[in-house]
Amino acid sequence: MTNTYDLDMFMSYIKEALSKKRYVHSRNVADLSRELAELYGEDAEKAYFAGLVHDIAKELPRGEQHALAARSKLAVSPIELSSPPLLHAIAGAQLLYERFGVDDKAVLEAVRYHTVGAGGMSKLAQIVYLADLTSADRTYKDVKKYRKFVHTSLEKGMLEALRFALSDAAAKGNTIPLSTVEAYNEFAAKAR
Ligand SMILES: [Fe+2]
Ligand SMILES: [Fe+2]
Repeated sequence: MTNTYDLDMFMSYIKEALSKKRYVHSRNVADLSRELAELYGEDAEKAYFAGLVHDIAKELPRGEQHALAARSKLAVSPIELSSPPLLHAIAGAQLLYERFGVDDKAVLEAVRYHTVGAGGMSKLAQIVYLADLTSADRTYKDVKKYRKFVHTSLEKGMLEALRFALSDAAAKGNTIPLSTVEAYNEFAAKAR
């Protein structure tokens, strides 16, 4: 799909629409998505694009994010709709679709699930999910450990990332979208 999307245009758009920090993050997620795609035999250009635009709606006003999510035909859980940190993924996929005419389902799903995960995630969606968690700008305590998992295999990366997501959410008393549990169950079963 090289040349299908105007990368320069998207680059300028997100530079305009996002803070400097999140723009750099987006570029880093794009770079790492491409690297992981090459490592795991996925379309590298598509992965780069999906990584670049994964947070495209993150800094839109809450109301706009809600309006976009409400128009989405993708499955959306009530937990996501009521959680500001999760809403931007659905809004982003819808923005890409309706404003920019992106209709590549794999790209839209990768953007849509980069926050919560889901059962049956494509390889591309796993790549963007993990690139978001371990991009060069991430500095949390265990990031090196997670980078190692991600470079071991996608399955190992996903299992450990989801294990962390679930235990962290539970420890903080946050509600957990079912799709995250479904993703975890899938990778936990594979690891048996
Ligand atoms: Fe995000
Ligand atoms: Fe992100």
